[in-house]
Amino acid sequence: MKKKVILTKKFGKNEVEILKEKYELIIAEDVGKDLLSIVKDNRDAAALIPFLSDNVTEEIIGELNDLKIIANYAVGYNNIDFSCAERSGIFVTNTPDILTDATADLALALVLGVSRRIIESDRYMRAGNFKGWGANLLLGMELKGRVLGIIGLGKIGLATAVRAKAFGMKIVYYSRTIKSDEEKKFGFVYKNLEELIRTSDIISLHLPYSPDVHHMFNRETFSEMKKGSIFINVARGGLMDESALAEVLASGHLSGAGLDVFENEPEVNQSLTKMENVIMTPHTGSATHNARSGMGHMVISNIEQAFSGKIPDNLIPELKNMVKY
Ligand code: DGY
Repeated sequence: MKKKVILTKKFGKNEVEILKEKYELIIAEDVGKDLLSIVKDNRDAAALIPFLSDNVTEEIIGELNDLKIIANYAVGYNNIDFSCAERSGIFVTNTPDILTDATADLALALVLGVSRRIIESDRYMRAGNFKGWGANLLLGMELKGRVLGIIGLGKIGLATAVRAKAFGMKIVYYSRTIKSDEEKKFGFVYKNLEELIRTSDIISLHLPYSPDVHHMFNRETFSEMKKGSIFINVARGGLMDESALAEVLASGHLSGAGLDVFENEPEVNQSLTKMENVIMTPHTGSATHNARSGMGHMVISNIEQAFSGKIPDNLIPELKNMVKY
């Protein structure tokens, strides 16, 4: 008998076909009920594939008596109560590495887009406002020689920093651990958080979200940023207080922001949507054909490994010591 797998929303067509071939696949979005109800109707599911927008709570996990694996279709897994999964002997996996370059590309696109006012310029053109070359028209920040503060020098933070270095930026970073190899190889400089915030021309967030870093960027932190600096977030919305960001932008203290993530997705602070100096993308950091297809294949491979009694390759670090079932 085929094992039952719940996929919350459709992803790549090929990957969905593979899942259909191998398993009894329940696609939650096609059922048209909330996830908890679907789980209650399918208590015998052996795998759950959530998206980062699905809150996999203790209640949901508790309903699934035969669950072997929660295979998240994302690198971040703050949407999953992984301690509860661990207590129940359920693997939790994510999709690291494959989306590193795509997400770093987007971070750099936001850096360039905000610093050179690309979207604002495009809107200006489309509105028919271009009447001739102007010496003071849409001036922005030149990147060469400017300081980029990377908060969280993991894989995506590093890939973003390396890209920015190619533009002549000076890279400072704050991370839980000192990255001596990267310092030697690329000339990156470690700063404590306060100093990084005070001295960076552009700050880019690359930390995983957890409750202890909730609103790491709040009214106070934003106001400590350098006057005229730029804030970029491609990590998680919960790391910033969105209304505080809107206030500090409105005050003119920051010159702009590039945001791919939001505190209460899909809702967005309405003041931000009205600001010319804010570029927003709909959490599309990993949205390349290559990354998304790779993520789907990783999910499938993690499930196959779990079903054949192996420890999946992409077990999240917090569960590395879990007792095997
Ligand atoms: C993830 O996979 O966690 C990222 O947020 C995708 O952009």
